[in-house]
Amino acid sequence: MEFESKPVISVKETDIYQEDNAVLRNIGFEIEKGEFVYLVGRTGSGKSSLLKTLYADLPLINGEVIVADYNIGNIKSKDIPFLRRKIGIIFQDFQLFADRTVTENLNFVMKATGWKDRTKMKTRLAEVLMRVGLGAAADKMPHQLSGGEQQRVVIARALLNEPLILIADEPTGNLDPEVSDGIFNLFLEINRSGTAVLMATHNHKFINDYPARTLKCEEGNLLDSLKEKFELSGHY
Ligand SMILES: Nc1ncnc2c1ncn2[C@@H]1O[C@H](COP(=O)(O)OP(=O)(O)OP(=O)(O)O)[C@@H](O)[C@H]1O
Ligand SMILES: [Mg+2]
Repeated sequence: MEFESKPVISVKETDIYQEDNAVLRNIGFEIEKGEFVYLVGRTGSGKSSLLKTLYADLPLINGEVIVADYNIGNIKSKDIPFLRRKIGIIFQDFQLFADRTVTENLNFVMKATGWKDRTKMKTRLAEVLMRVGLGAAADKMPHQLSGGEQQRVVIARALLNEPLILIADEPTGNLDPEVSDGIFNLFLEINRSGTAVLMATHNHKFINDYPARTLKCEEGNLLDSLKEKFELSGHY
């Protein structure tokens, strides 16, 4: 028997603000467990602002946003780390500590998110590194890794706490096409194993090769390919 499960993300009648500017107005959408969703739109159209609102990095002024059971409108600052444990956030610039090894980078996050048992930490570290194809990189410094490998470490870091969804803001923006394809395939693999993915991208090739539900920021609105047809190609 199937049970209805709550969406991972639910946004209702929400405006997205940057300071006093409403970047997106009256938007609404849901993302279910295990879904794969692209977020597109020209530069400055509001993709990053929307994502930041979802992970409580921009204030929610009006509307209702629920992410992984957290009500973003009234989330307390002490709960934000717990919210971010349930979502994995990945940016285009890799943001690893440059002066620490891969292991130290990942241990730092585990400690900060409440892991204490050394043996469990070691096992989890090995698991996530294997998962991203970097089983042998544990003792490397970030500068000893290529850009693509560094991004894999960031993805491994995002996976540590078994997130319900990966929120990725142009995760391949700084990578060359071949390396980008590898990272994209990794997102697909992770998605196939049940983790939802919301990925902002300017890369049409991904959408052509792997068509999936697409949200588009356009002139202050958020279009949803589930609800309406819109032009995917063109300049953005
Ligand atoms: N920190 C900020 N303070 C004030 N305004 C901002 C800030 N960041 C972005 N904006 C403005 O908000 C609007 C939306 O920007 P946003 O970064 O969300 O766009 P984007 O779709 O992510 O663009 P890109 O594809 O270039 O990443 C733009 O008009 C931008 O100038
Ligand atoms: Mg952006």
